[in-house]
Amino acid sequence: MSGAEPTFDTQWFRRVLGQYPTGVCVVTGMGEDGRPAGLVMGSFTSVSLDPPLVAFLPDKSSSSWPRIAPSGKFCINVLAGDQEDVCRRFASKAPDKFEGYNWRAGRTGSPVLEHVVAWIDCELEVIHETGDHWLVIGRVVELDVERNAPPLLFYQGGYGSFQPLSYVTEDEDLAGQMFYADRSRADMEAIALDTGMQVRALALVRDEIVLVASAGEAPADEPALIGTRVPALPPVGSTWLAHADEQQVAGWLRLADPADHDEHRARLVEVRERGWSVALVGPVYDELTALAVEARERGAENRLATRGREIIPTLPLDPLGYTLEDPAPLLELYAPVFAPDGHVALLLALSGFAPDASHADKQAALDRLLAGARAATEKVGGAPPA
Ligand SMILES: Cc1cc2nc3c(=O)[nH]c(=O)nc-3n(C[C@H](O)[C@H](O)[C@H](O)COP(=O)(O)O)c2cc1C
Repeated sequence: MSGAEPTFDTQWFRRVLGQYPTGVCVVTGMGEDGRPAGLVMGSFTSVSLDPPLVAFLPDKSSSSWPRIAPSGKFCINVLAGDQEDVCRRFASKAPDKFEGYNWRAGRTGSPVLEHVVAWIDCELEVIHETGDHWLVIGRVVELDVERNAPPLLFYQGGYGSFQPLSYVTEDEDLAGQMFYADRSRADMEAIALDTGMQVRALALVRDEIVLVASAGEAPADEPALIGTRVPALPPVGSTWLAHADEQQVAGWLRLADPADHDEHRARLVEVRERGWSVALVGPVYDELTALAVEARERGAENRLATRGREIIPTLPLDPLGYTLEDPAPLLELYAPVFAPDGHVALLLALSGFAPDASHADKQAALDRLLAGARAATEKVGGAPPA
């Protein structure tokens, strides 16, 4: 290789490169002796989305990396702002860096460290030799967000964490929906009182359904659900889309299997004509709820996104041709509260049906729910469809 002689020394190189901040992760793996190995890595980066590749650069003088490499697997553990001690531990030359520290084996068998922000479990794709380092590229086999915490950062030789300059709320749309929920509160309480059941307000915020308010007593064993989100994948969201324009419907349908588009469109027509929606009892709801709670509490959105994609299309939501005479046990009934522009502002969900509720009981509950939703529509200055 040719090139001009450098005009700087290594100290200067470090000094200038130190102006660039990095995140901090620990690369972990299993040694051939069956013991875990790990070292701190600032040079981690994502490389490719399809196929999913990541990379990092271990120093040729590292003693830990040669223990991990032969296994052909490793896990990237992204450290949190409060894990400086973990960073020091894994940047040391201690003979057993894992002593007294909890970890579990990930899918590849590589250690996932306790309390990290996220982990990315990989198989070794290729190693290139480059200067005094190796360039290691890994293929991601599994990854998840473990904890809702800011990351540890390394900058100019010191540690810190991340604080946004301006708090850009992701939920501008949510503020508007909260207004509708607030205005609907009295009607929600009245429905809950009259029926002895639970009423929840659901908002569509971009492509997710968010639970924004609740009235009436929840079952004692139910987790706190306010703030949980579920992706609006068809059939979820049908009540909103039944009153939306074609462009929005097309965007929603793009999330579904094309083979199911006709059925989803037929469902939207039925929901619009009927003026309400229904969810029947089904086992996947429990799993979906558990995933949504986990995602909100731990920031573990990946499992919700991946597993949700599989189970949401199977939800017994607005089955075609449904009438209240259907004996299948009811999970929830939904009635729309309309916004001034004629779109659905909120959905009021009524839950707590007895498994053997009679047709008359269901009808009475539905009538009360619809009357409450009409009253709430008036309070928000909404325009119900003509
Ligand atoms: C913030 C930070 C970033 C680091 N980044 C790297 C890196 O990208 N590559 C590397 O080889 N070592 C890096 N190190 C140093 C290694 O973690 C350290 O040399 C290693 O743990 C030595 O132990 P070993 O001999 O067990 O591998 C970094 C250390 C710190 C504190």
